[in-house]
Amino acid sequence: KKVVLAYSGGLDTSVIVKWLQEEYNCEVVTFTADLGQGEEVEPARAKAQALGIKEIYIEDLREEFVRDFVFPMFRANTIYEGEYLLGTSIARPLIAKRLIEIANETGADAISHGATGKGNDQVRFELGAYALKPGVKVIAPWREWDLTSRETLMAYCEEHKIPVDFSTKKKKSPYSMDANLLHISYEGDQLEDPWTEAEADMWRWSVSPEDAPNEATYIEIGYEKGDPVSLNGEALSPATMLETLNKIGGENGIGRVDIVENRFVGMKARGCYETPGGTIMMKGHRAIESITLDREAAHLKDEMMPRYAKIIYNGFWWSEERRMMQALIDASQEHVTGTVRLKLYKGNVSVVGRQSPNSLFDSSIATFEDDAGAYDQKDAAGFIKLNALRMRIAAQKGRGFLDK
Ligand code: ARG
Ligand code: SIN
Repeated sequence: KKVVLAYSGGLDTSVIVKWLQEEYNCEVVTFTADLGQGEEVEPARAKAQALGIKEIYIEDLREEFVRDFVFPMFRANTIYEGEYLLGTSIARPLIAKRLIEIANETGADAISHGATGKGNDQVRFELGAYALKPGVKVIAPWREWDLTSRETLMAYCEEHKIPVDFSTKKKKSPYSMDANLLHISYEGDQLEDPWTEAEADMWRWSVSPEDAPNEATYIEIGYEKGDPVSLNGEALSPATMLETLNKIGGENGIGRVDIVENRFVGMKARGCYETPGGTIMMKGHRAIESITLDREAAHLKDEMMPRYAKIIYNGFWWSEERRMMQALIDASQEHVTGTVRLKLYKGNVSVVGRQSPNSLFDSSIATFEDDAGAYDQKDAAGFIKLNALRMRIAAQKGRGFLDK
């Protein structure tokens, strides 16, 4: 009887409002979030009102998004399939959580979203919803209706007097896009041929490396327990940090990727992403970890990382295994505090300096000069010989690589 819809204010989700009212004869509550997608969310109010919506939720979730979702994920250096920084994946659990909280507040028993039946997003929204409200009903119009082409959609708008200028104010992009403070993504249209290079004017957040300044930009990021907290000495809130790094990174052509990825539902999909700030944060975080983490602690995290990435990509944020892994990762960040100096130049991020009050780096041990007895090189002989023992035994028993 009442359903909470993740409503962007665009054409597709406006059609969904009408369709839910008609097909399900239910009251619709709309929820529109500002996650830093760079588009005004307030206009969604008038649009929802015009569609007869009485309960309209419009919220600025930017700080919560970066503080409670992006930063925890970056503590793990999470990357999916070696390239994807999970910009869309990490936003879905927060939207799922708010959908359910709003359902509870308004007495709704169902949620709805505008993701198709072919993608990852449906899985992420719905796994989150079921985990947070086990008895919730889910309505996914794209899996049910037959408005599968632009033409049928337009005909539906005409028939139901949905103002179509909803989304045609700006030049309509041919791509399926998703944006938030962490990234902007492009899929579909020309990109469906994995051999075709993306057109230069598709990219919205960054200049191409060729057009980036000929002069390098140096920045210093201060970290505290694994999170970036200051930029060039100035303390910044999580959302402001990411927003600022996006700007600096974008100006220097940083953070573009073009990949074919494996979706959870089984298909391969081609996607292009711009993640300027995230790309800088990833490099900086690894640099501060390099001097503050014990070797085996660091390697343990690294082994878990692909698993953690898959958990997030596949939509299992609100799962027991995700919570357990996060606890381990957070425990590893206790000493990950200090400053990293980075050089940004034509699409590249290079680490040029790192320092920490908790540094484990000891130049008196590592030096190529006389170490005044800090390290006894003679100890290395036995260390190596015992490590070689099993290989020597195998070789003696005729299992050597040069035998036969
Ligand atoms: N392929 C990426 C992912 O699965 C991006 C999805 C973009 N979503 C969208 N509704 N355009 O995370
Ligand atoms: C969609 O299918 O709605 C977008 C792409 C995805 O979810 O993977």
